Amino acid sequence: MACEHPIIIDLRSDTVTRPTEAMRQAMAEAEVGDDVAGDDPTVNALESASAERLGKEAGLFVPSGTMGNLIAALVHCRPGNAIIMDQHAHTRVHEVGGVAALGGIIIDPVIAAPDGQPMPEAFEAAVHPADIHHPITRALWVENTNNRAGGTVVTPETMAAIREVADRHGLVVHVDGARLFNSAVAQGVDAADLVRDADTVMFCFSKGLCAPVGSMLVGSEAFIARARRTRKMLGGGMRQVGVLAAPALLALETMVDRLAEDHAKAAALARGIESIDGLELAMHAVQTNMVYFRSTSPQWPSTKLAAALCDAGVLCFDVQADVRLVCHHDVPSEHIPLAIERIAEVVAG
Ligand SMILES: Cc1ncc(COP(=O)(O)O)c(C=O)c1O
Repeated sequence: MACEHPIIIDLRSDTVTRPTEAMRQAMAEAEVGDDVAGDDPTVNALESASAERLGKEAGLFVPSGTMGNLIAALVHCRPGNAIIMDQHAHTRVHEVGGVAALGGIIIDPVIAAPDGQPMPEAFEAAVHPADIHHPITRALWVENTNNRAGGTVVTPETMAAIREVADRHGLVVHVDGARLFNSAVAQGVDAADLVRDADTVMFCFSKGLCAPVGSMLVGSEAFIARARRTRKMLGGGMRQVGVLAAPALLALETMVDRLAEDHAKAAALARGIESIDGLELAMHAVQTNMVYFRSTSPQWPSTKLAAALCDAGVLCFDVQADVRLVCHHDVPSEHIPLAIERIAEVVAG
């Protein structure tokens, strides 16, 4: 981030959000114990509250979304088994190949519909036949929201159709819900309704919900018992981690409804970008807190455009051919018009 500007508008990711004052206070006051021994009351409260919120039996606090997904894959699969997921899924592209490196698990990629919805028929077509030559498919993996598709939401109806595929083939369904609550808020549905048809779910406290660290894995008691052992094996057993569970609990209790503000900022940002000559974006894909856009000019490949925007004080990432902007708590609404102005100036040269 080599950018010197009086006002920096940091739209790289919602992971840059800092804990609120209330969260810092909660950290200072958290009751703690040795969580590996099951003695941390704040972690226990967070795990129960999370499981209840998502309508599952039990929860496991993990250091990151990456570890939560990895644990789910390791518990669901044996080496040589296959998981079906979107070709651009975070687990396939951005989790360092962990499921293959540590679990010997194959990922079978499928494409999403143009609106970002996973296509149950594509999942079904990718299930390996029982023939002796094939790997055994074990799981269907759904990312909600779908980051690379634009932060698009997966509907309860699509989840129900995916469940039917899973049931026809004896598979489990896992949701990478790093931004599950963005999806729930955007659709006006209860998060539990979004994952009713999933066996296991990972969601993150450390993104739009503003907690400094941590994610949650939820599922059946039996699944979480195995997940707890796997977390320990990966070195993720933490001790007086109530100091991190306390802000996460506050995030769950107080930061979910606020996500609508981030969605409104993203919609305003997208409308502004859409009106700039030489830029294009898929407005229908702007459903939560993300905006992906690109230049129509070969002069502005996404890497160059993202670098120029950073120099202009609008921090962002290029993702393949697009530039990605993510709205969050720490970007005030009044910075959105300023960001649009700077983007217009950059592309006008
Ligand atoms: C969709 C999705 N899944 C999983 C993760 C991994 O979360 P973490 O960065 O906490 O490992 C991310 C991170 O941004 C993500 O966007």
